[in-house]
Amino acid sequence: MGEKYTNQIIQGDCLNLLRQLPDESVDVVFADPPFNLKKKYRSHNDNLELQDYLDWCEKWIKECVRVIKPTGSIFLHNIPRWLTYYAATLNKIADFRHWISWDAPTAPMGKTLQPNYYGILFYAKDAQQNKFYEIRSPHKRCRKCGYLLKDYGGKKALLHPFGSLVTDVWTDIHRIRHNKYRDEHPCQLPIHLLERIILMSTDENDIVLDPFSGTGTTAIAAKRLGRQFIGLELDSEYAEASLRKLAQEQSNAKIDKYWVSFFLEEVVTLREKDWKDISQYYIIPTPIQQIDFAKSKLQKQSQICYCPQNNKTAKSASLPY
Ligand SMILES: C[S@@+](CC[C@H](N)C(=O)[O-])C[C@H]1O[C@@H](n2cnc3c(N)ncnc32)[C@H](O)[C@@H]1O
Repeated sequence: MGEKYTNQIIQGDCLNLLRQLPDESVDVVFADPPFNLKKKYRSHNDNLELQDYLDWCEKWIKECVRVIKPTGSIFLHNIPRWLTYYAATLNKIADFRHWISWDAPTAPMGKTLQPNYYGILFYAKDAQQNKFYEIRSPHKRCRKCGYLLKDYGGKKALLHPFGSLVTDVWTDIHRIRHNKYRDEHPCQLPIHLLERIILMSTDENDIVLDPFSGTGTTAIAAKRLGRQFIGLELDSEYAEASLRKLAQEQSNAKIDKYWVSFFLEEVVTLREKDWKDISQYYIIPTPIQQIDFAKSKLQKQSQICYCPQNNKTAKSASLPY
C-alpha cells in the first residue's frame, strides 16, 4: 500500500476514495455507515429513499471486499434490519463467520419489540485463509458485591484466571455514557469495541480501514494497538477532530510486549495465546476457587506503558433508532 494512504484520515466520499485503493491491500475493514434514520450529521443526508440507500450500501460493501487481502476480514456495524441486506450482498463475495450481537439498549419505541442490540456482521474474505485470534474478556461480576454473576457450582476451580473466551454476544461494552467527554458527533463508538475487533483479526502493523471514520474511533484503536489505519470521512470537521485526537495517542496499549485493550485502567480484552506470558503480571487468587469473589488483578507497575486518559473519554452517543 505504501504511505500514500496509510495512517491518514482522508476527507471525501468513501466510494470515490475506495475506488482509488489497490485490490487486496488492507487487512481489515470496519464500517459503521449512516443508518438512514434521519440522524443529524453535519454533511451527510441520512434520509435516502430505501432503494437508494440499499444500492449505495451494496456499492461500498463490494469495494470494501475488493480491497481486503485474502487473509482479511470485514466487520459491518448496523441495526439488524440493514444487516439482513448486507448479508445478502456479502454471502456472494465473502465467507460468513459470525453475526455478533452487541447489547446496547435504547429508548422505548412503541408497537414493536424493544430493540436491544446492534449487529456486527463478521465475514472473512476467504474462510480458509482467514486470520483470527481467540480472545478473552474478564468474568462478569456483580458491580456491588464483586461475586461472579454465573453460578459455576463445583466447577470454579476450572475457571480461567482472567476470564472467559469472548462469544458472539457482547454485553460487557457499553455505549459512551458521559456527555462531557463526547465529541460533537451523533454516533461515536467506544474505542475498546474497536480494539476487541482489531485484536481478534489483525497483527501488529496490519492495515485497518474504516470508510465511515466519524471522529476517528477505529483509527485511534488501531494506533493504540500498533496497527496502521486508513480513515475515510465525508465531513471535514469530523476528519479534523480525528486528527487532533490521533495526535494525542501513542501505540502503547500493551503489557510487556503483548497488545491488549484497556478500559478504565483494566484489561478488557486480551488474546488467548498471550495469557501464558501475560499472567506473570497478574495477582491471581489462590486457591483459584476464590475467583468467585476475588478477580485476578493486574500489578500496578505493569501499566507503565499505557496512557489511559482517552479511554475515559467514553460517553453516551444518542442511539440511532
Ligand atoms: C455512524 S457514523 C460513524 C461513527 C464512527 N464509527 C465513530 O465512532 O466516530 C457515520 C459517518 O459516516 C460519514 N459519512 C456519511 N457518508 C459518507 C460518505 N459517503 N463517505 C465517507 N463518510 C461518510 C458521516 O459523516 C459520519 O461521520
